[in-house]
Amino acid sequence: MVLDPVRAVTDRLDAVIVSQAEPLEAGGRTVQGWIATAFRFGGSAGQSTKNVLNGVWLGHPLHPALTDVPIGAWTTSLIFDLLRLDRSADATLTLGVVASIPTALAGAADWVDAGDEPRRVGFLHALLNVGALCLYLASMRARAAGSRALGVGLSATGFGIAALSAWLGGELVYRHGTSVNRNAWREPVQDFQVAADVASLQEGRLTAGKISVNGQDAPLVLLKRGTEILALGGTCSHWGGPLGEGKLVDDDCVQCPWHGSHFDMRDGSVHKGPATAPAPVFETRVRDGRVEVRTRILTA
Ligand code: FES
Repeated sequence: MVLDPVRAVTDRLDAVIVSQAEPLEAGGRTVQGWIATAFRFGGSAGQSTKNVLNGVWLGHPLHPALTDVPIGAWTTSLIFDLLRLDRSADATLTLGVVASIPTALAGAADWVDAGDEPRRVGFLHALLNVGALCLYLASMRARAAGSRALGVGLSATGFGIAALSAWLGGELVYRHGTSVNRNAWREPVQDFQVAADVASLQEGRLTAGKISVNGQDAPLVLLKRGTEILALGGTCSHWGGPLGEGKLVDDDCVQCPWHGSHFDMRDGSVHKGPATAPAPVFETRVRDGRVEVRTRILTA
């Protein structure tokens, strides 16, 4: 098969992740620690920056959208090089280098919360990206110095490494589920179902509940506010943290116990990342001393 060599390379990368698990784990943990410290050191500005980089403001992860810019620019640059359109090639190469900075920052903000295999894969992804960026910077220097052939060779090599890294980025999402909404497959609950006894709720305190959807337990988190009872799906959209074990924070938000995302108990919206997808919201009513819920369909 003509594509066998490509498969051989991706299999090799998979093997590297397994055989080099220890150094990737150690290096990944160290760098994650540095990034987490930097965000913490920034206080509320650091948290706001992380929210922006995660894509909380967008309601979607930011990093996957940004990656299109450097990859697109470097692909275009390669084509211009092949067509001997030197100035256009140099300009698009520079655009890719500039765009790679915010792209890398957004990726780091997502990866800092990754655990286990996504940590190791993400670390290798980052190392390859740094390698590709160094080659592109060297290419810019060679081109500026008039060494065109060297510059093109360096950028072509950088492109190959960036392509491998992009494949790993896809692995992080499609194989490891990084940044995938953990409630994506939850079906709406059309009919009211019992979620908890009213007597189990305490004013201003979060309570875990559950319903059954297609024979499977679906966790909930409930909050009593006066005569009102608020209910959200109990699975954090970021990585599945149990919101029923979270704590109540400002503005009636539930804080995920795993990485600290805040979800508004009234509408499920994300007030703080790393989650970007809202939590499912449930209508509630009380019947015979029991709280019943069904999915609230949010309208714009
Ligand atoms: S699982 Fe990561 S913030 Fe909830």
